[in-house]
Amino acid sequence: MDQNTEMIAKVQTLRRELKAVILAHNYQLGEVQDVADFVGDSLELSQNAAKTGAEVIVFCGVHFMAETASILCPDKTVLLPDEHAGCPMANMITAARLREKKKELPGIPVVCYVNSTAEVKAESDICCTSANAVKVVESLAADEVLFVPDQYLGHYVSTQTKKKVHLWPGFCPTHTRIQPNDILRLRQEYPQAKVVVHPECRPEVAALADEVLSTGGMCRFARETPAREIIVGTELGIIYRLRKENPGKKFIPASEQAVCPNMKLITLEKVLWTMQEMRPQVKVPEDIRIKAKAPIDRMLAVGSG
Ligand code: 13P
Ligand code: SF4
Repeated sequence: MDQNTEMIAKVQTLRRELKAVILAHNYQLGEVQDVADFVGDSLELSQNAAKTGAEVIVFCGVHFMAETASILCPDKTVLLPDEHAGCPMANMITAARLREKKKELPGIPVVCYVNSTAEVKAESDICCTSANAVKVVESLAADEVLFVPDQYLGHYVSTQTKKKVHLWPGFCPTHTRIQPNDILRLRQEYPQAKVVVHPECRPEVAALADEVLSTGGMCRFARETPAREIIVGTELGIIYRLRKENPGKKFIPASEQAVCPNMKLITLEKVLWTMQEMRPQVKVPEDIRIKAKAPIDRMLAVGSG
């Protein structure tokens, strides 16, 4: 047995013994995706966490995703295989700064991208992911919203609604590496290809795409499109899943630079260790959890986009 096969076998045994479910984001390494019970985007993962019967959730993603699972499932143990797997965008806003901004914009509802801390969610009216951001904003009665923390997802939403969207200056350092020139060059090289990009990309990049989609949306698009070549503007980890599910199609990363170092901290070995040692655990304090759960529940009631 090689080392990976041995580790996979141990993970399978522990999964049964612990009554655990392994959830993995679409950006995870192939070896982690392969051992997961479910691979998906942020919305699909939180929907999955909300309804799981498992006692332990091994969350292969970044901290805010494990936090969301902990908020939704306070009685379950939520494990994050590397405690340093954070999301820099989530740290571009704090609850205190959001409270200040709310004073400047009284009465305007706060729409909070799930890429945020539990404390920031607790100050917000409703959450969204990239899969349902437009639908969430449209679901509100107000004509104006404050969208935090991703200015580019917020800008994309503003192009799809008549409502005024106030932006917060946050961004994803991984997606901003994708440049308009990358798309223009690849379109010349692959003239038949469709271009899909994530709404965390810069507006100049989104404007050059055929579709602006969440990572789950990209997986569906790849299955359904008759196109044989697809240029993919998001984090590189998704290419593994796209190629595995669509062996007859060619997937071209828009930029080899689009790597999220935090997502890559999770490895098969760390998945095994975390299950053996039952740590690191992610647990949101109860007072914050109650306040943060309300906007997440409102988002889940709106559903996917
Ligand atoms: P998705 O919800 O589209 O998977 O995106 C999550 C994320 O962190 C994008 O950078
Ligand atoms: Fe955060 Fe960007 Fe990494 Fe997604 S890809 S987890 S938004 S840093």
